[in-house]
Amino acid sequence: MADVHNITKTEMKKGYFIPVHLDSLRIDSILYFDLYTRKGIEYILYRASNLPFTEANRTSLLQYNVKELYISGENRHRYQEYLESNMKEIIADPTIEQTAKANIVYDSAKLLVQDVLDNPTLPENIRRSQDMVDSTVSFILTGQTAFHSMLRVMSFDYYTYTHSVNVCTFSLALAQFTGIENKEELCRLGTGALLHDVGKTEIPEAILKKRSSLTDREWDLIRKHPKSGVDILKKTNMIAEESYYPVLQHHEREDGSGYPLGLKSDEIHVHSKIVAIADVYDAMTTKRVYRTAMAPYLALKEVFDQGGVFDRQLLKRFTQMMGPGNWSKPT
Ligand SMILES: [Fe+2]
Ligand SMILES: [Fe+2]
Repeated sequence: MADVHNITKTEMKKGYFIPVHLDSLRIDSILYFDLYTRKGIEYILYRASNLPFTEANRTSLLQYNVKELYISGENRHRYQEYLESNMKEIIADPTIEQTAKANIVYDSAKLLVQDVLDNPTLPENIRRSQDMVDSTVSFILTGQTAFHSMLRVMSFDYYTYTHSVNVCTFSLALAQFTGIENKEELCRLGTGALLHDVGKTEIPEAILKKRSSLTDREWDLIRKHPKSGVDILKKTNMIAEESYYPVLQHHEREDGSGYPLGLKSDEIHVHSKIVAIADVYDAMTTKRVYRTAMAPYLALKEVFDQGGVFDRQLLKRFTQMMGPGNWSKPT
């Protein structure tokens, strides 16, 4: 390949590389990170940082069917910053196909949530979450294919960060499907959904991944995560009051059997009811250390069979939304 500087090879003994989609690199923008191509197990420097990425670069890569480049793990934050500041343009760009956009939104949200979970009280991380939710809402609002693209790129291996992004995506899609069209409201709901499990950062990993049954003390700790989530987020003083509802109430159940307060139907905020369905559906359909993932239709059936635990109307809408080819605006 003519553009590749074969001379400068890096094996990055201890480092690792992250794939980046070609579509996420804006033409003629200056990149503050080195870009690599991959040949077998070797990563080769393609373009040094501080150089613009040109249309000619892109065309030549595509000619060789190269759709992904790589960055070194240590440049992850620079790439992430670049991505977040260009996200609005990427979503609005009609030349980028939906799946590529979905990949970019999903990957970027995943990296961001990892940062949030590492340092949930950092106001900058919460501000970035809000921007990310804003971009996700804009993307979801572009139409039915956006949600379907997101579904295709979602990871169904369970990690708290992938779970958070999945729950945010399902919640926003369900909210829109039930007729919530106001962008500000969707953003408040999306922020709460993305951060709903932030309180889990206070639970030891060993308990979260425990295969055997939990002791009473361990259950007590688990049941505290909605409240600790709100406490953590309040320290940053960055999010709207309404965004706290899904964080605090996503384990409350219609019949009062949930936690932390055992609230019933009317006492639960509608955003929390939406996030509760998204939460349980994602937890069932992703692979966990202690069990395999359930097929979507079986998960939906099991949720339905629990009768009276989730809001019936919302559950019906969710099933319609997840059904093949059934995305349409509510009538
Ligand atoms: Fe939770
Ligand atoms: Fe959750």
